[in-house]
Amino acid sequence: EKEPVTVLVTGAAGQIGYALVPMIARGAMLGPDQPVIIHMLDIEPAAEALNGVKMELIDAAFPLLKGVVATTDVVDACNGVNIAVMVGGFPRKEGMERKDVMSKNVSIYKAQASALEQHAAPDCKVLVVANPANTNALILKEFAPSIPEKNITCLTRLDHNRALGQISEKLDVHVSEVKNVIIWGNHSSTQYPDVNHATVNTNNGQKPARELVGDDKWLNTEFITTVQQRGAAIIKARKLSSALSAASSACDHIRDWVLGTPKGTWVSMGVYSDGSYGIPQGLIYSFPVTCEKGEWSIVQGLKIDELSREKIDATAKELVEEKTLAYSCLN
Ligand code: NAI
Repeated sequence: EKEPVTVLVTGAAGQIGYALVPMIARGAMLGPDQPVIIHMLDIEPAAEALNGVKMELIDAAFPLLKGVVATTDVVDACNGVNIAVMVGGFPRKEGMERKDVMSKNVSIYKAQASALEQHAAPDCKVLVVANPANTNALILKEFAPSIPEKNITCLTRLDHNRALGQISEKLDVHVSEVKNVIIWGNHSSTQYPDVNHATVNTNNGQKPARELVGDDKWLNTEFITTVQQRGAAIIKARKLSSALSAASSACDHIRDWVLGTPKGTWVSMGVYSDGSYGIPQGLIYSFPVTCEKGEWSIVQGLKIDELSREKIDATAKELVEEKTLAYSCLN
């Protein structure tokens, strides 16, 4: 039997945490033959609820689950962690300024970066889910300088999967027949869901999604805004965030990163920009990536048309502004 992999979930008493930990314990993140140990971190006011989640994990008798730690101590939580899924954060409450929310999250991610750097396994892979996801990941990277930058990512796979879902619904084909959409940029309403390189498997072979949809107006307007605003639509419908799909996408993100993307398929991940596609270096930006042997690489050489260029730059601009705001909170 394989050695267990230790997975940290922060904010584990929250909505997404509650959906995510059973998925991890069932093998949805690391595969059906990979034993796991789950570390769950939350803050003191949620300690009792967190312990309730631990009780349920024990009660579910998951064959792959070799241990559970539920703690409010960030050092215990980070100790020996191989995969860290950062879901904990400070939510924007009514009447709060953007800067106040940013400031709270900057201090959380600064502290947790240091704990991970000192106590996690040296090759620890980090996925930031909590919003503002890209900028939280950037702060984490800045304050954990000994963790390789290629190990620090943020979640845009939910947006990616939402884009696949919209094309699948529009064409009435199964979602697994659609691939290679791209989410560019920020996990926010300025993100750019791009279908220009997406394809669909049909009985007559692989076809461009744009050609099959045959409705440029829909693709250039409603499709984009639906994906951009899907999170808000779910909150409106459920009165709660999109926890199930966020948890499932977080599993997809880590699984593909660790086990590799299928040949000919890319996925979207928020990663540290190396300047590809003219995106400023030093941002955590969502790109199309392929993964092999535990490492992602940005898909190169895709043709970018004029409309896409504008949208790719607009979401980069927002991230530059967020970065400036985050830095102003450090002083
Ligand atoms: P939630 O409010 O139900 O859970 C958040 C949990 O984090 C709470 O239990 C809270 O006590 C905990 N927490 C707060 N500060 C903490 C700290 N310093 N250390 C550890 N835990 C801490 O929220 P939910 O619905 O689970 O969402 C979590 C985050 O994920 C939010 O920031 C949300 O905006 C974001 N999100 C991101 C998505 C993405 O695609 N990137 C999609 C959906 C949500």
